[in-house]
Amino acid sequence: MKIFLDTADVPTIKKHFASGLIDGVTTNPTLIMKSGRDPEDVYQELVDLGIPDISMEVVGDTVTMAAEGARLVKKFGKDKTTIKVPCTPDGLWVCKQLSKDLIKVNVTLIFSQAQAILAAKAGAKYVSPFVGRVDDNSFGGLCLVKDIAKVFREHMVRTEVLAASLRGVRDVGRAFEYGGDIVTMPPGVFEKMYKHILTDQGLELFDKDWKEVQSHTQ
Ligand code: G3P
Repeated sequence: MKIFLDTADVPTIKKHFASGLIDGVTTNPTLIMKSGRDPEDVYQELVDLGIPDISMEVVGDTVTMAAEGARLVKKFGKDKTTIKVPCTPDGLWVCKQLSKDLIKVNVTLIFSQAQAILAAKAGAKYVSPFVGRVDDNSFGGLCLVKDIAKVFREHMVRTEVLAASLRGVRDVGRAFEYGGDIVTMPPGVFEKMYKHILTDQGLELFDKDWKEVQSHTQ
């Protein structure tokens, strides 16, 4: 069960990576835009922080995506760099080429089991079904995770299911329960994973009682 953060906000990533619970980071053009920063400055800082797996999205035609993917891998290292491509004929062609060179590829914008099957055949390391965006359109996003994970399991496909576009903590648990290998989430969702009202209440009581114990023993 791996947890990735879905953001390009480096200070927030740094804070949560220090917990030892974060396995990687996914970015996309929208998240980079929101950061207001040069994407390669963001990637470099994440590499320097020691983030083990960083998804960097490429755009454009096949030639541009393939060249950009190869350049990013050369600049930031094969271990930490994952090239993110869209699930289109062009994106999957690039996935196939990069995978032949043992470059990790994350095929994004997956909305059907059929797309995930094509991405796996193109050699993807990860497929990213967009749970929340499926839910936004009145279908079951988590069912998509389940369907993809099932077919991969039954056919012993090595491509991992990276559940993306999550909206809340319940989605996180369910995504893993339904066979997702990795879940990427906004930092706000990760922060909520720690929280439970009964934990807060229980801790308050324990703290109070402990003070009582100390008052008797001193
Ligand atoms: O990793 C994909 C994710 O960033 C999309 O999330 O919330 O824009 O649907 P969202």
